[in-house]
Amino acid sequence: MSTLPDESTHSSCNHNHGNGAAHSQCTHHKESGESCAHHDRPLQQVKNIIAIASGKGGVGKSTFAVNLAITLAQTGAKVGLIDADLYGPSIPTMFGLLHDKPEVVGKNLVPLEKYGVKLMSIGFLVDADTALVWRGPMLSSAIKQFISEVEWKELDYLIFDLPPGTGDIQLTIAQTIPLTGVVMVTTPQDVAIADVTKALGMFRKVNVPVLGLVENMSHYELPDGTKDYIFGSHGGEKFAKIQGIPFLGSIPIDRAVREGSDSGDPCILTHPDSATSKAIKQAATEVTKRISISNAG
Ligand SMILES: Nc1ncnc2c1ncn2[C@@H]1O[C@H](COP(=O)(O)OP(=O)(O)O)[C@@H](O)[C@H]1O
Ligand SMILES: [Mg+2]
Repeated sequence: MSTLPDESTHSSCNHNHGNGAAHSQCTHHKESGESCAHHDRPLQQVKNIIAIASGKGGVGKSTFAVNLAITLAQTGAKVGLIDADLYGPSIPTMFGLLHDKPEVVGKNLVPLEKYGVKLMSIGFLVDADTALVWRGPMLSSAIKQFISEVEWKELDYLIFDLPPGTGDIQLTIAQTIPLTGVVMVTTPQDVAIADVTKALGMFRKVNVPVLGLVENMSHYELPDGTKDYIFGSHGGEKFAKIQGIPFLGSIPIDRAVREGSDSGDPCILTHPDSATSKAIKQAATEVTKRISISNAG
């Protein structure tokens, strides 16, 4: 695998639709004799593919993606996590893997593995500034390489930690990958809700099932047990109701979450019995329930 994306990859291939329908009506490769790694459904050995998305940055997508992945792995599931935030990869820091490089076998990369989760991030491949100058097509082909040139093998869940907003990366993933569904993350604050509305609109437009919404940083618990709703009260829950999407739970603000993210020791492992970790586990259970419902439908 080349770690610099090839801008020409799939330049003529923008007609596939995600959600299991990839290339179902695709005949031009046969006619033209082109070879196309995505002609078959990508990630055939992966049972469920989940994207974690938001409108705004800094609302806790990566934090939730990391703790969700570890929670699922703790149940015995085989789990992979792709850091799709190419401009701001967080996974190397959050897993404490800032100096590790994936092995190359043949033309494929072997994902790193920690806390029972297989991992791939642009941060494992290029230095922090390199991806910052990449344009849309290069970003898209880096993502496509993460999908087709990484040895994920069999997985029960593959989680995509998306960048904020509705750019090229989100569209590439939504249109190339048969996503089981997307989990939206927001804080209760009005400005975050305004942005998550746009992001939700994009996923609906490209027919990605919405598994539900997680409200992060919902409140801070004071020493006397009272709750301080720093970013406003129940904004996520109200939003989910208005939009008619499942509300998957509220995660409080907790110093241990921030410390765990920075040190590479996720809170779900260091403080498994805290109110926050319990809230994350509850939200993870809701995600798996919604996946079962989505798969049955
Ligand atoms: N519930 C929480 N309590 C305390 N800090 C949090 C919480 N959720 C996220 N953070 C911190 O907020 C910052 C942004 O979170 P992050 O997951 O990187 O957001 P995003 O991926 O949406 O940009 C990180 O430093 C993270 O540790
Ligand atoms: Mg992030």
